[in-house]
Amino acid sequence: MTTTARAHTNIALVKYWGKRDAALMLPQTDSLSLTLDEFYTTTTVNFNQALNEDQFYLDGELVSANKAQKVVKFMDLVRQLSGRTEYAQITSVNNVPMAAGLASSASAFAALAGAAAKDAGLDLSLKDLSRLARRGSGSATRSVYGGLVEWHRGVDDATSFAEPVQEVPDFDIAMLAILVDTSQKKVSSRGGMQLVVETSPYYPAWREVVKRDMVAIKEAIANRDLPTIGHIAQENALRMHALNLAADPGFTYFDGQTILAMQTIDRLREEGLNCYYTMDAGPNVKVIFDPKDQDDLLNALTPLFGAERLVVAKPGPGIEFLTEPVMKF
Ligand code: ADP
Ligand code: DP6
Ligand code: CO
Repeated sequence: MTTTARAHTNIALVKYWGKRDAALMLPQTDSLSLTLDEFYTTTTVNFNQALNEDQFYLDGELVSANKAQKVVKFMDLVRQLSGRTEYAQITSVNNVPMAAGLASSASAFAALAGAAAKDAGLDLSLKDLSRLARRGSGSATRSVYGGLVEWHRGVDDATSFAEPVQEVPDFDIAMLAILVDTSQKKVSSRGGMQLVVETSPYYPAWREVVKRDMVAIKEAIANRDLPTIGHIAQENALRMHALNLAADPGFTYFDGQTILAMQTIDRLREEGLNCYYTMDAGPNVKVIFDPKDQDDLLNALTPLFGAERLVVAKPGPGIEFLTEPVMKF
């Protein structure tokens, strides 16, 4: 049997940036995100008794055992939960740049959790699937659901899972990715957040910031108040990136084009467009905006960044199971 699942990436409006338990992948704080329709991962899993190790193919190429470690560790967890003993063939295709701050690990591990659990015969609720995805990558917890999604930090493995806030947002919101550089980052999300928790003197303040932002953004969502949602998201992102600058050694994911994009969005907002920026663990900038401003936004950004670097995304769906495998193998 083979099982294929697709999950979409999500971009946090209130960020997850730090673990309190690395083994169980429990976060320091709650977080809240928007799942995107344009960026996703499709993964097929096939448990097979003829194999004597997991075989992981990514974008058509066999991945070496060393680079497949996160996937193999995740499959070990699925074997432990299901009682299955066979190894598996895992074939995955990313429709998102990998390791560039566009949340490939979120779509990747949500899709893998869905396909592997189902192929192993586990019949998980979405809540339990969200808990399982968390073990692959924290942000994957939220990609099980579409639209606006909250991840409750919880107190233990059983209570740390995501829940939809609005699976299909009932107001207009879109996100534009400015792809300033899609090469793979030097500091992984995992490494960056660990250094920050261990060394950034502002970490206690960050916990308080997120507590307040979570309350305020949920209120703004209930009020369909895009300017307040955007404002909270932009400030939250800046504060997350301030943690990185203050770490020891200090670091940043920004490059010159990141700053140019940030300054441009601030200027366009001052000129009357409803737009706000957020950045993750990479130089690429995501713009939260009102779809009615799309043409004006694209017209302003195209001369600076080029049309091929601008990708408009709308709210995307939760996990989906497909009947066709991602590729023939
Ligand atoms: P990103 O900003 O893309 O989420 P991360 O540093 O969080 O960057 O995660 C990137 C890592 O996610 C990759 O190095 C790889 O280990 C894993 N990954 C990405 N895509 C896939 C996939 N389709 N299947 C399995 N693992 C993946
Ligand atoms: C900046 O989920 O990629 O995108 O849990 O170690 O796999 P691991 O890290 P990851 O971190 C995401 C960080 C972020 C913010 C967010 O998505 O909330
Ligand atoms: Co990631």
